[in-house]
Amino acid sequence: MNDEDIRVGVFVCDCGSNIAGVVNVPEVVDYAKGLKGVAFADEGRWSCSVDALASMQESIKEHQINRVVIAACTPRTHEPLFKATVKEAGVNPYLLEFVSIREQVSWVHRSEPETATQKAKDLVKMGVAKAILLEEGEEIRLPVATDCMIIGGGMAGMTAALNVADQGFNAYIIEKEQKLGGLLNSISTVSHDHNEILAADIVKAKADIVESHPNIKVYTNTTIEAVEGYIGNYKVTLNANKKSEKLDISTVIVATGMREITPEQGQFQYGDDPRVVTQLQLEDRLKHWESGIKDVVIINCVNSKNETRGCCAIGCPISVKNALTIKKIKKDINVHILYRDLSMVKDEQIHLQAAKAAGIKFIRFPDDRYPEVIKNNGNLMVNVYDILLGRELKIPSDLLVLTVGFKGSDTVEQVKGHLKVSSNPDGFFQEAHIKLGPLDFASDGISLCGCARNPKSLKETCEEGIGAAMRASIPMKNGYIEAEGIVADIDLTHCNSCSICWKRCPYSAIKVNEHKEPVVIKALCKGCGLCAADCPKECITIVHYSDDQIFAQVEAALEENAQEKIIAFVCHWCALGGVDMAGVSRLQYPTNARLIRVMCSARVSIKMIEHAFELGTAGVLVAGCEFPTCHYITGNYAAETRLKRARKKLAKKGYDPDRLWNTWCSAADGPKFANVMRGMIKKLGLEQGVF
Ligand code: FES
Repeated sequence: MNDEDIRVGVFVCDCGSNIAGVVNVPEVVDYAKGLKGVAFADEGRWSCSVDALASMQESIKEHQINRVVIAACTPRTHEPLFKATVKEAGVNPYLLEFVSIREQVSWVHRSEPETATQKAKDLVKMGVAKAILLEEGEEIRLPVATDCMIIGGGMAGMTAALNVADQGFNAYIIEKEQKLGGLLNSISTVSHDHNEILAADIVKAKADIVESHPNIKVYTNTTIEAVEGYIGNYKVTLNANKKSEKLDISTVIVATGMREITPEQGQFQYGDDPRVVTQLQLEDRLKHWESGIKDVVIINCVNSKNETRGCCAIGCPISVKNALTIKKIKKDINVHILYRDLSMVKDEQIHLQAAKAAGIKFIRFPDDRYPEVIKNNGNLMVNVYDILLGRELKIPSDLLVLTVGFKGSDTVEQVKGHLKVSSNPDGFFQEAHIKLGPLDFASDGISLCGCARNPKSLKETCEEGIGAAMRASIPMKNGYIEAEGIVADIDLTHCNSCSICWKRCPYSAIKVNEHKEPVVIKALCKGCGLCAADCPKECITIVHYSDDQIFAQVEAALEENAQEKIIAFVCHWCALGGVDMAGVSRLQYPTNARLIRVMCSARVSIKMIEHAFELGTAGVLVAGCEFPTCHYITGNYAAETRLKRARKKLAKKGYDPDRLWNTWCSAADGPKFANVMRGMIKKLGLEQGVF
């Protein structure tokens, strides 16, 4: 399209007085009318109202607008609405650019209407500069069939499989052990209301239903050898009882469970004395109780709730449950529970009361003074400092039980490799987002549940099994999944097959063809832009976030008074969420920053940063999600590594590397973002004559 054919329409919203109360909107509209490429600009009182949207559509048609800039609230909430509106008016929704002048301007610069108006004009100018370069895009629709693979046949996996199967879909449970049941097979009893239920009975009842369900196929003694593909099109190779078998499936649920962390040899005499056991080993002993045991001591928080690991979440209720079971076996056994804090939710208080009534003794010890286990004449003695009594006690122990923390299953590394998902240092799988996608992985079509995610009770495990099944069922019910068309595109003209893109892609979305050339699998690509930013030949473009478009925004922002402005690259997810939260909270900070939205901090190349410095910017900020919650698995890690290189390069070119900042925040971190802004202004010496 020739320059003269570009006709940008700019729609500036008053948002009642939310924007117009601070920003001089008519002035911004007049300014927009004078920008290159703008064919029409208008002010709207409430641009997202039904009437305003209808009038916007009329204006688009009347003025033959083929690019649209909306200057209003935040794209995080309103972009889909405006995309749908322009689409109905005949404009490809990828030709829309959204500029936030409420959260980024009027709400955070309330006492500076003039500089706020100037900032709004700059943001509109940047939006128009990008809009001129936008190209049409399209959503990618992938067919999804009705076969779901559930990895793990414990309670979470069985519950998920049953839920999937009851909806009429096919469920395939892959269990590495000989039988279904998972961790519950190692447990004696489970507390439920006032009762103790045999774990074996629970497993049997569930496994019977699962194994007789017509839509469920159970593979026991089976491991996964390979997984290829993506949502709707996974090809799985199984090693089923030493025979290779292939499965075509559309969705995956990960329910691989967890295991205890073995205490160190000699820790509390563990491994040196057979009378020292973990809770899981105790569960086994409870099934065949040895007579002759008179004193049982339980020590909680062993290897958890410390600098490396948080609360194990279920240790306290487990210790109380097992102490009660011991008392039920023989009520004159002395049972002591040594604890730091008792974390028992409301439903579990009933067991705590029962334990106290049964004569179980609770002794609280200090966080920094764990009990000591002494062996004297063959007898085990536990020395513990009782906080409440304020003195040390010596307790004999025929059986010492350690309530240890947990880690993910031993198959985690293998499953991670097959599915290209991530886990935390304890081997628990990492969800897409703790609040926004707790049962999803970052890759579409794969969900997770139960203790594969973190330790939890049986009730929570089953609830998550249902939740994960629901997540997997949505695309199977629809028959397709629609992915955004923000994807990578490789121009092979200058590509030298250096391999950086396909090695670094967090989704393995770039494959190598028979000519050793990289090819983007669009269904797998999420458009984070990591590959484009790292490509040494600059031959990768990200739809809607191309280098040219981002450079145009930088140039537009720094056209005037560059030395007083900060270019802030913010990721669409948590960082922009933090920016929006600062706005919602009306936190006031200086007006110097000109924000450029990218999908992930990984999209920001060193060249973009350098370009801003070449144009005279006061400083550059790269803001992304806090670790490890990047919405593109490892994007923020890549960005952080690249920023270190960028600082070195800036220094070599004679720029002060301290003028390049970064911040990693959550979507609730409004105060953090506002503070970073204030800190930068102070450090960069921009306090006088804030622009
Ligand atoms: Fe926020 Fe990657 S999405 S840093």
